[in-house]
Amino acid sequence: MKTQPVSSDFVSLDRLSVLEIEQLIERALELKHGQPSKTFANKTIANLFFENSTRTRCSFEMAEHRLGMHVLPFETTTSSVQKGETLLDTCKTLEALGVEALVIRHQETGYYHALMEQLTIPIINAGDGSGQHPSQSLLDLMTMYEVFGHIHGKTVVICGDLRHSRVARSNADVLQRLGATVIGSGPPEWFDETMGIAYVPIDEAIEQSDIIMLLRVQQERHNQAMELEETYHEQYGLTLDRMRRVRPEAIILHPAPVNRGIEIADELVEHTQSRIFEQMKNGVFARMAILERAFHPNSTEGAI
Ligand code: CP
Repeated sequence: MKTQPVSSDFVSLDRLSVLEIEQLIERALELKHGQPSKTFANKTIANLFFENSTRTRCSFEMAEHRLGMHVLPFETTTSSVQKGETLLDTCKTLEALGVEALVIRHQETGYYHALMEQLTIPIINAGDGSGQHPSQSLLDLMTMYEVFGHIHGKTVVICGDLRHSRVARSNADVLQRLGATVIGSGPPEWFDETMGIAYVPIDEAIEQSDIIMLLRVQQERHNQAMELEETYHEQYGLTLDRMRRVRPEAIILHPAPVNRGIEIADELVEHTQSRIFEQMKNGVFARMAILERAFHPNSTEGAI
């Protein structure tokens, strides 16, 4: 059993109170605006990515370096995972060697439940199958708070492959808890009723929304390989024509990687209303706040 408080894990935002989430957003914004971070020079962390990543992995690594942590190199492709070692045994091994926290991305939804039972070190979920992506949600929230100051009463449309998206699942829940109205759009067959949000056709949804959150089609999570229909962009994407109907104060978000010309017109990725690259920048600060919390869940005690 864990000897640390359970809250040192960061696996899903529904395990955190609204106050804790707002404190993390505030801390991430403070870090972005130059407030000094704590340093954890005596801490060793490992990043275990069983699925591909650019943003999440690199921004966790940046955050770890900025916090002065020692990052133990670990590559799934050259580890004994290739000989059939289980995730649990891999993690128990790293814990036995002295690693003090694990950042994990894994294809299995909810992989972290067994690890939380068996390990004493914090688990930070960098994405589990089509389950949750809490650090992405935190950086998305940070980006929205940075623009609007709050999200209470704002309307957010999440558009695209909702059914297979851990970003959509994490965000639909936390945005509603923080007082936003969330609607879903995109191909009706990929809408997910279990998210507790209403389906609104894209043209209506765009006109109503303060925040337009586009999603990549999660090809890797579909049961069958498929060709994206050429009509996807015209039917469900943010086209140049639809952009004319976006509110002037609204912002465009996308967790990326972006399929330019499919969920969003190529020219709109760098549009003045797009915050896509700001989201990536914010990811470093959001993850610094998450890592600070992992080692000091309730206080600043022990920070240098
Ligand atoms: N948004 C996101 O999770 O990107 P990566 O898959 O590149 O980490």
